[in-house]
Amino acid sequence: MSWAYRHLLRPMLFAFESEDIHDRTLAALALAGGQPPLCEALSACFSAPELPVDLLGLRFPNPVGLAAGMDKQAAAVPVWEALGFGFSELGGVTWHAQPGNPRPRMFRAVADGALVNRMGFNNSGAEAMAARLRAWRQQGRWPRHPVGVNLGKSKVTPLELAAGDYEQSFRALRDLADFFVVNVSSPNTPGLRQLQDKAALDDILAALQAAQPAARKPILVKVAPDLTFDALDEILELAGPRQVAGIVATNTTLARPVPASPALQSISSQAGGLSGRPLRQRSTEVIRHLYRQTRGALPIIGVGGIFNAADAWEKITAGASLVQVYSALVFEGPALAKSVVTGLAARLERAGLRHLRDAVGVAAG
Ligand SMILES: Cc1cc2nc3c(=O)[nH]c(=O)nc-3n(C[C@H](O)[C@H](O)[C@H](O)COP(=O)(O)O)c2cc1C
Repeated sequence: MSWAYRHLLRPMLFAFESEDIHDRTLAALALAGGQPPLCEALSACFSAPELPVDLLGLRFPNPVGLAAGMDKQAAAVPVWEALGFGFSELGGVTWHAQPGNPRPRMFRAVADGALVNRMGFNNSGAEAMAARLRAWRQQGRWPRHPVGVNLGKSKVTPLELAAGDYEQSFRALRDLADFFVVNVSSPNTPGLRQLQDKAALDDILAALQAAQPAARKPILVKVAPDLTFDALDEILELAGPRQVAGIVATNTTLARPVPASPALQSISSQAGGLSGRPLRQRSTEVIRHLYRQTRGALPIIGVGGIFNAADAWEKITAGASLVQVYSALVFEGPALAKSVVTGLAARLERAGLRHLRDAVGVAAG
């Protein structure tokens, strides 16, 4: 399928503008999500083998998840399980509905497996997402895998009122998802990354923990790959006091690789966050650092440039207990999760390990 996707389907899809084809694909997947026979057909082609992970008090059927940003509106919730993902992170969602930045705002360099985006949290707001999540549940179409929600800050909300903005989204959604990710690392909302500063992040986490429902939900923090190790360490200092359940590492980068191929050069000049293959190495370095600093005590979800099982294995052995993909799904197509999970299971066997958790951090040093 990967071959067929890359050589037959992808050239047709990539003839369209990036966001245009993203929207059309999501609309088709949303339709499929509401049709059990279509989901079953997808599942027959793309479901992944079991490779269970117990983490965050949840059971993940496999460690490969859908990263935030792909399904910002919770439009296709049942489909991600049918495509073999072991979990999905919906959003980023903000308290206020907002259009995001002017289009075009997503650019691809095919030869490099890279994207630059400056979407700016285009979404219909937390209450609209809550209504959609309720509707999927009422239709009996809720997936069996864990579902997370990525929380961002509304553009209209000043930085000093950020905590309240995140809190309102959390209150609207807290009973409807299994875990939450505080996104303070998107480069596309002015000033957002300043919320990674210890005091600002402390305020946000305090507000969210105070708003926990009776059945507490794991709250993770998503970090930027551009933070220094010192800045990452400051965030880790909040983990204990604010009961941070884990770190998602990493978001897209503002850095641009040098030297770059002509295709990469052409998208590098665009403002926004770079994702895909050029992000892989830095994201792994961040994971390794976080794992070493916490001696493996804090769960890490590794994301950034994972295209195959070898990339996922690199993240896991650096310290990630789960991984996520976004860009590779665009470039490699719908068989991606199945192929990564299958490859991970084979690697585990070759390494003579019984559980994936036995591989976590073995190459962290
Ligand atoms: C178009 C696009 C939109 C994204 N939107 C979000 C978002 O809303 N929230 C978030 O935390 N990360 C967002 N991301 C970042 C991804 O979740 C992921 O961290 C990043 O792309 C690195 O993974 P990858 O190399 O597999 O793409 C977005 C990425 C892309 C390409």
